[in-house]
Amino acid sequence: MKIAILPGDGIGAEIVEQAVKVLNALGQKFETETAPVGGAGYEAHGHPLPDGTLKLAKEADAILFGAVGDWKYDALERALRPEQAILGLRKELTLFANFRPAILYPELVGASTLKPEVVSGLDILIVRELNGDIYFGQPRGLREAPDGPFKGAREGFDTMRYSEPEIRRIAHVAFQAARKRGKRLTSVDKANVLETFQFWKDIMIDVSKDYPDVELDHMYVDNAAMQLVRAPKKFDVIVTGNMFGDILSDAAAMLTGSIGMLPSASLDANNKGLYEPSHGSAPDIAGKGIANPLATILSAAMMLRFSLNLPAEADRIENAVKKVLSQGLRTPDIFEAGTTRVGTAEMGEAVVRALA
Ligand code: IPM
Ligand code: MG
Repeated sequence: MKIAILPGDGIGAEIVEQAVKVLNALGQKFETETAPVGGAGYEAHGHPLPDGTLKLAKEADAILFGAVGDWKYDALERALRPEQAILGLRKELTLFANFRPAILYPELVGASTLKPEVVSGLDILIVRELNGDIYFGQPRGLREAPDGPFKGAREGFDTMRYSEPEIRRIAHVAFQAARKRGKRLTSVDKANVLETFQFWKDIMIDVSKDYPDVELDHMYVDNAAMQLVRAPKKFDVIVTGNMFGDILSDAAAMLTGSIGMLPSASLDANNKGLYEPSHGSAPDIAGKGIANPLATILSAAMMLRFSLNLPAEADRIENAVKKVLSQGLRTPDIFEAGTTRVGTAEMGEAVVRALA
């Protein structure tokens, strides 16, 4: 089994290093190959997604990704910015189904900014569509406004669009995920305003006929944002488009206290996937050895489960993470009085020890 290792920028290298350590401690044979991506790709080859990196990602069985982005690339033209690497991988590999679980570990209930009774026991899953929507819709760009009260003025524009097959395939993924959990699916849309999302809602209803055992409901995105902070435990699985999913998944992540704990998986139709922490590259703390590697380690566990068919090994990693938390080990992002503050590498080593 070949794993492409794409550490990226900022804290990417240090957190991915810990996840690789954990993978290597499982006693399985993995072939790994590392390649630069994001700002690191730009530095090495003049492009955030160099040809060699894309080729490696395509031929690997799974991809372990760190994070990309650094303010120092803000002035580059859009096509050369680090974010294009992850968008390009999602599109080139047709990784359309993004799983973003938000789970609150009992030990971390105090790390959340919400009251314990609102978040304790939280276990929800956001399924975000990743290949369509306003992220990729054409046309887009800058132009002279063709009409309206500001006709002739400069305007920026993007196109929101979803085709029927795109909505159907993410709907099936989401219903199947809900079937394996609490059998409740909330489709988040903006059908009251947007044609694209009225269509989305209609297709969701149609696909729901194949899943009579799953209860489907619909929520407007503004209300969903409110419900996520008001009563997040009412959700089981949420399915939504690329843009709304981007926003809601960050909100959901913070319910758990630290975005440093949340893994994610981006899958194609054959369960090949890219696995990355839900958080970004945090250039402000890069190289300091204080970043939380647990989201990346948990992403490696998702990789074993979804793409490499090693569910027992995935369980071992997840249990090891629970164990180090119960031992009181905390990186600064989740530190509380009475616990033991550790750095990135120490946390990785503790997970390795807890595997035994
Ligand atoms: C995410 C990120 C990306 C996105 C950026 C880095 C392009 O915010 O994975 O949520 O918007 O999808
Ligand atoms: Mg985001």
